[in-house]
Amino acid sequence: MEQDWPMLTEKLPFWLEESRKIASAGKVASYIPELARAPQDALGICIAGRDGRQLTAGDDTLSFTLQSISKVFTLLLALMDRGESAVFSKVGMEPTGDNFNSMLKLELVEPGIPFNPLINAGAIVVSSLIRGATPAEKTDRILAFFRELAGDDTLAVNEAVFRSETATAHRNRSLAYFLKDNKVLEENDDVEKVLEVYFRHCAVEVNCRSLARMALVLSLGGKDPETGRELIPRRYVQIAKTFMVTCGMYNESGEFAIRVGVPAKSGVSGGILALVPGRCGVGIVGPALNRKGNSVAGMKLLETLSAAFDWSQF
Ligand code: DON
Repeated sequence: MEQDWPMLTEKLPFWLEESRKIASAGKVASYIPELARAPQDALGICIAGRDGRQLTAGDDTLSFTLQSISKVFTLLLALMDRGESAVFSKVGMEPTGDNFNSMLKLELVEPGIPFNPLINAGAIVVSSLIRGATPAEKTDRILAFFRELAGDDTLAVNEAVFRSETATAHRNRSLAYFLKDNKVLEENDDVEKVLEVYFRHCAVEVNCRSLARMALVLSLGGKDPETGRELIPRRYVQIAKTFMVTCGMYNESGEFAIRVGVPAKSGVSGGILALVPGRCGVGIVGPALNRKGNSVAGMKLLETLSAAFDWSQF
């Protein structure tokens, strides 16, 4: 990585502007009304190296909400809270081929547990597994964990986005009640409280820099980049990275693995978190999404970077 910095520093602004051009081909998500306010042509990136260097370009200071990117980190926290066997008794390990908010397979396949923790049904179950007596307590623990990974103790929930999703999430609500009926959410899991935790962690606001720092911790196998202290057990990082490769980019994960070839997770706000194991963490925002729900310009920029620096793991 170190030898790549000079070329990266020189080329990144150009590659970013080239990628930004295709943002007009995408569409900003609007099913959560508050997300529709994001600028269509924005594109920002931060690359965080293991030596502490950060390189940024474009709209790197633009704030956006984690949305589905948060699912990787709530999974990690649930694994740390409950252990592997408890978590995977309630959520599977397979990609679905269905939309992220689909309920189809919950009824078709036995047992009716969600296929994986990165689809909505799976992430809602994972939210129920986070330790804490109340939604506020759970959210506080999630925020403390996210802040430590991001190296930013100001990370907070964007209340407008949280309220906007709460008011319109009929489909997530139906998924959650279905899970309750199937007893995947248990007797003492109040559906509305579980959903509150889920909506809040999706609405945590970041920028490319905080996202890149979270990615860097994963690229270092769970270690704090400054102190070397273990923030997440290596085994759990391995699990998270594997889910990112198999399901992190929704139904475009296979194509992304071929074109870019690194663990990544996207969200409907246009964020992409990506990492090159042992080398760097990457945070991108580009709110215009392609038909599969991934940042159209962000994907192009990652493809360019992967080709230039041989990032593919395969
Ligand atoms: O549940 C939702 O629809 C949003 N809070 C997150 C969706 C998202 O980013 C796509 N997920 N895989």
